[in-house]
Amino acid sequence: MADDTTDTKSSNQMWGGRFASGPDAIMEEINASIGFDKKLFAQDIRGSIAHATMLAHQGIISADDKDKIVHGLNTILSEIGSGNFEFSRQLEDIHMNVEARLATLIGPAAGRLHTARSRNDQVALDFRLWVKEELQKTEQMLIGLIAAFLDRAEEHAESVMPGFTHLQAAQPVTFGHHCMAYVEMFGRDRSRVRHAIEHLDESPIGAAALAGTGYPIDRHMTAKALGFREPTRNSIDTVSDRDFAIEFLSIAAIAGMHLSRLAEEIVIWSTPQFGFVRLSDAFSTGSSIMPQKKNPDAAELVRAKTGRINGSLVALLTIMKGLPLAYSKDMQEDKEQVFDAAESLELAIAAMTGMVRDMTVNTARMKAAAGSGYSTATDLADWLVREAGLPFRDAHHVTGRAVALAESKGCDLAELPLSDLQAIHPDITDKVYNVLTVEASVASRKSFGGTAPSEVRRQIAFWRARN
Ligand code: ARG
Repeated sequence: MADDTTDTKSSNQMWGGRFASGPDAIMEEINASIGFDKKLFAQDIRGSIAHATMLAHQGIISADDKDKIVHGLNTILSEIGSGNFEFSRQLEDIHMNVEARLATLIGPAAGRLHTARSRNDQVALDFRLWVKEELQKTEQMLIGLIAAFLDRAEEHAESVMPGFTHLQAAQPVTFGHHCMAYVEMFGRDRSRVRHAIEHLDESPIGAAALAGTGYPIDRHMTAKALGFREPTRNSIDTVSDRDFAIEFLSIAAIAGMHLSRLAEEIVIWSTPQFGFVRLSDAFSTGSSIMPQKKNPDAAELVRAKTGRINGSLVALLTIMKGLPLAYSKDMQEDKEQVFDAAESLELAIAAMTGMVRDMTVNTARMKAAAGSGYSTATDLADWLVREAGLPFRDAHHVTGRAVALAESKGCDLAELPLSDLQAIHPDITDKVYNVLTVEASVASRKSFGGTAPSEVRRQIAFWRARN
């Protein structure tokens, strides 16, 4: 409901010709989009200036009318920008609000602006321009988040932590390596953003209602003026297409899923039971009843925002799936989904960037946890293969017996005396202790993409050059 808009008593100035009476109040309420599409004012005015300039260049309107139109539009731009514009719900949407104001400002010349266009190509243009800018902003924010992770990864290229599968300690890794996993994820999100910008980089204006126009317009000229690579090729598709919005939402949903997994890890890591990280005061909250608590609310909300973004993606896919070509008013419902998702995504990336930069990493806790749970068992098996020539399956079995023995004695693998190990397999020598520490385990994993500090530093250098 656009309750911050003003109702006026006059009948519709834009399409009222064949209408004897104004709309029912409910009709006006369900029909109006000004409450949310006023967000598109700058794009709408930019589009109109490019369109009017092209119309004059093609001799479709006079240079004098074009000058008046451009001047009036610039006045409206500053009026809206400074909050001195009265939006009217009776004028439905941003397009008609701007045009009506233009008529008040410059008189009859305003009526020439809508020559050779329709609100169908106009809204497609405004929304594309908005989504394009939002994608560019998203890319910058992802760059910031990746940079935060690169710094933490560099700082902790050697800090050992448990690596998990099934959330059970599996093998030691470094915290730097874990950070770099997120760099890969957000790096993919960034490349999806770039592809989406490429996909939408076609100008819709000039498709008109759906069939193109008989006026001698120059769509290449408007495309260029508005910073698009080229005009769209099919006028019917142009006014029917919302793929660019759906792509934005899919990207937001995938990035949101990444952010949410990170949020979940931060929630787990910051529990007193794990104690791997401590969130800064700036990114946590207290409890109104339990004085000892420090809650990871920001991480939890990032996790929740992701659900909301997913909802927007499903909403728009569902809105679009049954629509015959070309434009239907259903498509007006595209904007709130995208606006809401964009706001959630921006907040989520900003909050995560702050949390990652600010959190204190408890390397001692991480290292202690990395050593527990027989996390170097695979290293023992690998040693048996390498040094004693056992087939891996046999080595696995021997190691299993060593783990069982250590478990029964309540000690770590590295704490088993050599005699115990040799009782399990005679070829074991005291050299085995070199691989049973978490540092040795981590340092040995030098395979491309592995967790050895040297490998992690190579990954960091790769991404530093790219980001
Ligand atoms: N407010 C409309 C929207 O957001 C603009 C296009 C209206 N077109 C029309 N044929 N009624 O989709």
